[in-house]
Amino acid sequence: MKRLLQQTRKLQREQLYSTENGKIVGGFAKAYNDIPGPKGPLGLGNIFNYLPIVGSYSWLELHKASRDKYDKYGVIVKETMIPSEDIVWLYDPRDIATLLNEKDYPLRRSHLALAKYRKDRPHIYRSAGLLPTNGSEWWRLRSELQKEISAPRSVRSFLPDVDEVTKEFLDYLPKNQSFDALPKISRLNLELTCLITFGERLNSFLAVEQLPNSRSSRLMLAAETTNSLILPTDQGFKLWHYFKTPSYIKLSKSQEYMESVAVDLVSQKLYFFKESSSGSLSSLRRTSLIEEYLKNPNLDLSDVVGMAADLLLAGIDTTSYTTAFALYYIAKNPQVQQKLYEECEKVLTNRTSPLEGDVLNTGIPYVRALMKEVFRLNPISVGVGRILQRNLILGGYHVPKGTVVVTQNLVACRLESNFKDALKFRPERWLDQPRSSMNPYLVLPFGHGMRACIARRLAEQNILVFLIRLIRNYEIVWKGNDAEMDIKTLLINKPSLPVDIELKERP
Ligand code: HEM
Repeated sequence: MKRLLQQTRKLQREQLYSTENGKIVGGFAKAYNDIPGPKGPLGLGNIFNYLPIVGSYSWLELHKASRDKYDKYGVIVKETMIPSEDIVWLYDPRDIATLLNEKDYPLRRSHLALAKYRKDRPHIYRSAGLLPTNGSEWWRLRSELQKEISAPRSVRSFLPDVDEVTKEFLDYLPKNQSFDALPKISRLNLELTCLITFGERLNSFLAVEQLPNSRSSRLMLAAETTNSLILPTDQGFKLWHYFKTPSYIKLSKSQEYMESVAVDLVSQKLYFFKESSSGSLSSLRRTSLIEEYLKNPNLDLSDVVGMAADLLLAGIDTTSYTTAFALYYIAKNPQVQQKLYEECEKVLTNRTSPLEGDVLNTGIPYVRALMKEVFRLNPISVGVGRILQRNLILGGYHVPKGTVVVTQNLVACRLESNFKDALKFRPERWLDQPRSSMNPYLVLPFGHGMRACIARRLAEQNILVFLIRLIRNYEIVWKGNDAEMDIKTLLINKPSLPVDIELKERP
């Protein structure tokens, strides 16, 4: 009798809902502990499986680990990283929709060591910044900062300056000889990030700036070093809480440098801002983001420095790696390149005529389809993470409040069940088929909802301007390795091989 009662109670507890076409429907959900997934040796945590030599997974090849878990366990996986710390991975777009459409301020658990670094320096930062902060403090910052950086009209007003710098960058790129495109594109995106953020040119294309000790070289290295240390410091035992681990020291050193540049540039802006009657001596045609933030009475100086540091950290590698993957696909697919060229030539009849906003909106459907296809196959992250704010049913299982759940869009986008010829690079798929035939929760390179990338439009604009100008004026020839390009997961997914290309001037 007692057993029957216990069973009935268990059933009652489990009777609830599961997701169907993204909607919660009645039914039975299984217990959290029944979600399949690795627990590591003796149940001590799968973090050991990420150790060099002994482990079969690697932080640098997280996409392979993600695929392996999908093959072994299915569309929902519970990975116990260390005892009492799980990550639930979601591969089904219906579950991804359920997760990302939750109301309330979305919580993310990332950039934890960066948060500690900033919290230990209250004389510089008021908060840990947008990336690691959660709750009402996150919204206080986000709601003020996004007015300038996300609004379509504000983004478009940067177009003429972005276009000018891009033209200058194209002059600087080598012609008729092979070169690795990624380090050069990083310079373009550093230059654009600093121009838009501070209204300042770093002149990072100059020969003297190419030296390893220059400000631009050190800044790019510091951003990449910090980004590559986020995953390893976010996972596992987080010993950096207790003492300064080698990873934490490296991260702090990189941050110290980025912070010194951010403080310098903000102070410079503040000084000119006070001195000049117009309030600005910027190289921009419009005011920079930082000038707008400094004028905002709801933000104080330490908020502005924190935002400047966040933009330097998030602005360079994200856009550069995406553009580098795009160049790889363009160079490797001459038919795609020809179609792109025909489209770009129509919108830029003259090599140097300025690019208009309307062209970006409606004049380049094939270039936009190409960008979407690059994001499908090579998004900058495996997916996005959230901390559950209430119990949810995902994949037919109970998942309790407080659990860290991460979407697996990269793997889902490479599955034949979601895309025909999933591994083929085919921009046409975005033009041939009606949009409604694609699940909108598969290709989400910028995340989704109120916590999605704050700079999405800005990043897309920078990438498009560069691609249109480059393709219009040069043929891009692949000079690299014949091996298939893969991904190196440094938090931000980087091309695994050099993107060696040659540019040949078009008539
Ligand atoms: C191709 C370019 C880029 C991609 C694919 C990208 C992608 C992302 C993703 C996936 C997130 C997390 C979204 C979520 O949790 O739902 C994010 C957040 C963020 N991104 Fe980007 N990003 C790009 C470029 C940039 C640039 C250029 C900047 C700044 C100049 C930037 C600044 C940020 C910031 C500050 C956040 C945190 C937003 C918040 O938590 O409120 N990103 N980005």
